[in-house]
Amino acid sequence: MMDSPSIGSQDESVYPTPNSSILLDFDGSVCKRLITHDFSQHEVVPLIEAIFSSQDEVKMIGYLRGDDAQTFIDVIDEALDLPGLSSRLRRKCLSVLCKICGRQALLPRSLQIPLCYDRSDTPLYQGGYADVWKGEHRGRPVAVKALRVYSTSDFDKITSRFCKEVVTWKTLHHPNVLPLLGVTMGKNHFAMASEWMVNGNINEFIRANRDTNRFELLKGVVRGLIYMHGQAMIHGDLKGANILIDKNYHARLADFGLLTVVSDPTNPTTSGSSAKGGTTRWMSPELLDPDQFGIKDSRATKESDCYALGMVVYEVLSGRAPFTPLKDIIVMRKVIEGDRPERPDGPEGTWFTDDLWRTLNLCWEAQRGSRPGIGVVLECLERVSGIWKPTPPQVCEDVEMDEDDWDLTTVSDSSGTVS
Ligand SMILES: Nc1ncnc2c1ncn2[C@@H]1O[C@H](COP(=O)(O)OP(=O)(O)O)[C@@H](O)[C@H]1O
Ligand SMILES: [Mg+2]
Repeated sequence: MMDSPSIGSQDESVYPTPNSSILLDFDGSVCKRLITHDFSQHEVVPLIEAIFSSQDEVKMIGYLRGDDAQTFIDVIDEALDLPGLSSRLRRKCLSVLCKICGRQALLPRSLQIPLCYDRSDTPLYQGGYADVWKGEHRGRPVAVKALRVYSTSDFDKITSRFCKEVVTWKTLHHPNVLPLLGVTMGKNHFAMASEWMVNGNINEFIRANRDTNRFELLKGVVRGLIYMHGQAMIHGDLKGANILIDKNYHARLADFGLLTVVSDPTNPTTSGSSAKGGTTRWMSPELLDPDQFGIKDSRATKESDCYALGMVVYEVLSGRAPFTPLKDIIVMRKVIEGDRPERPDGPEGTWFTDDLWRTLNLCWEAQRGSRPGIGVVLECLERVSGIWKPTPPQVCEDVEMDEDDWDLTTVSDSSGTVS
């Protein structure tokens, strides 16, 4: 079945059906001008400025519904590309856009695209909460990632979170971050499209291109993460399988943020690490056991991203997942008790200089407050990247291990290298 949902069609769409304009009798006259398109192009930025300068106007945004909310979203979305928008105002626009899209379960129209992919086919990748297909958009190959939604009971919650998350993703623009092309959303159908990365993920890429300077790829990874943190975003699932390589051989961070879309803490099948199968060995001790660290909120932080970044550096340079060939459950216990990966002593050991090893161990500090800012990792990679020689050691397969996949004998040889 070729799936090409028509956005906004009556049967499939979950966007609100057009209702008579519910222009409230409100004081927000500037807001009202925006949603009635009563302005000329050069007035957009001053009008937005005026909205954010008035508490009444800002309050009115929260009362917008249906068509009015959609129009407001689209005007703000278009304004984001205007050169006259200051970065301060841009941040405010983004913040209000995420809020209103999340609350109203609406999306900017620019984000809604029809996607062609064959859902009856086996997906190329099956992750913990989503499947990835190769599809097409305007004749270009795209990766289509569709959430697997089992329960219809929390459909509203998922819709609202999905809207918020994809709007956030759409606002990220950096050479080391995978851009979002658009989404398709229907009943029980949430799909996101990104440009197809011909070079696959970083593990696949270094396996096929052994001469590639891995330090250069890793620098891109850190730059992407510095950018995300600068945008007040946490990656939350950093690992080799979530770093893709674009056609210019640059690393791009992918698969971030959306954990919260399907993660329901009351549902053991979607909560925590199970929702993101195979993430355990990149997870910091305070995420694995918040109680031990006196932490109530077990959400990812910049510091847990820093810990995971250290594991990614280890993974990419050593060519194997951290703690290979141990099972996830063992890794979990060891990490909580303070164990960390051993310094590689094979041919790849030369890349783990004292300087780098010290930095990685800082990233892996048990107390998150003791970990460095990730800029320190970039500086270290810049110092050591000169030692790269294109004689990399053997490279392993991706390791996607989760708590249900405890028998690793099928993927490990006696040397612990995953084949
Ligand atoms: N844009 C893309 N281009 C090429 N391959 C992709 C793309 N997006 C995802 N993939 C492949 O699918 C895998 C899983 O994608 P990911 O977004 O990490 O989903 P999941 O949440 O299931 O882990 C990636 O490791 C990569 O191999
Ligand atoms: Mg992934």
